[in-house]
Amino acid sequence: MRDSRETFVNHAFVAGYPVRHSRSPLIHAHWLKTLGLTGSYTTREVTPAVFPDFIALLKSGQSGFIGGNVTIPHKETVIAHVDEADPLSREMGAANTVWLDEGRLRATNTDGIGFAANLDERAPGWDQAGTAIVLGAGGASRAVIQAVRDRGVKTIHVVNRTLPRARELSDRFGRTRVVPHALDALPELLSDARLFINTTSLGMDGTPVPDFDFTTMPTDAVVTDIVYVPLMTPILAQAQAQGRTVVDGLGMLLHQAAPGFEKWFGQKPVVDEMLRDLVIADMAAHT
Ligand code: ATR
Repeated sequence: MRDSRETFVNHAFVAGYPVRHSRSPLIHAHWLKTLGLTGSYTTREVTPAVFPDFIALLKSGQSGFIGGNVTIPHKETVIAHVDEADPLSREMGAANTVWLDEGRLRATNTDGIGFAANLDERAPGWDQAGTAIVLGAGGASRAVIQAVRDRGVKTIHVVNRTLPRARELSDRFGRTRVVPHALDALPELLSDARLFINTTSLGMDGTPVPDFDFTTMPTDAVVTDIVYVPLMTPILAQAQAQGRTVVDGLGMLLHQAAPGFEKWFGQKPVVDEMLRDLVIADMAAHT
């Protein structure tokens, strides 16, 4: 849809259940405003029971939406409902962005792009790590493992409390480069890794976080967390106190939103400090 000024007047959504805590509307509203576009981006509370109907209406072209984000609990199921899921999202088994393209509903996953872009911005050269450690083997770790692998990091140790889950990810993303471990392997692995990524919810529920000895990592090692509430997670705080470079996870959220915006609204948005400050202020207002 275009108006007389030949700009997009499209409408996009974030569909999830629950979805009211999503910060995506704030991000997209900021970009729509700063770029002077008249589209919209709104939340849609969609239960698993009605998700197939929601997608069917979207595909019919009668929903009023050009596309949107899908979030928990639909990221995995959406793959089976779209006309075309790209290789990235198929390998990951999860998509977060859908859009109508000449009547076909397409899907991709931008979480890995967001993860890599955040590190590119805050710790350039991170992909020269050689060896990385990913702590956690849940849904959130998949995009991270894929992105780190695709940027050329040779060995990725996936360390998880439940070893079979780490093994599943090794099978999914390549046994030669993705190596599964139980938690007790961590102290030994740290001395050889230049990149450490926490993808677990450790410490988020107020339970005590174990002591990590990041000092055995090389001095130029980078420690990052994909959790961004709080910005300084317990694991990042430990790493910083031990003199390691830390990168918080907020940039991943901001950067993963950009490709979808471009597909729905036709313009490339900018991730800048103004946007970051806006989201930080919103976090402060709601905690
Ligand atoms: P998500 O999709 O957000 O990644 P998830 O699938 O529930 O959520 O995965 C959470 C991750 O945090 C898992 O790797 C989990 O370890 P298990 O696979 O053993 O459950 C990890 N995790 C959560 N709490 C933990 C804790 N107290 N100690 C160690 N790992 C923890």
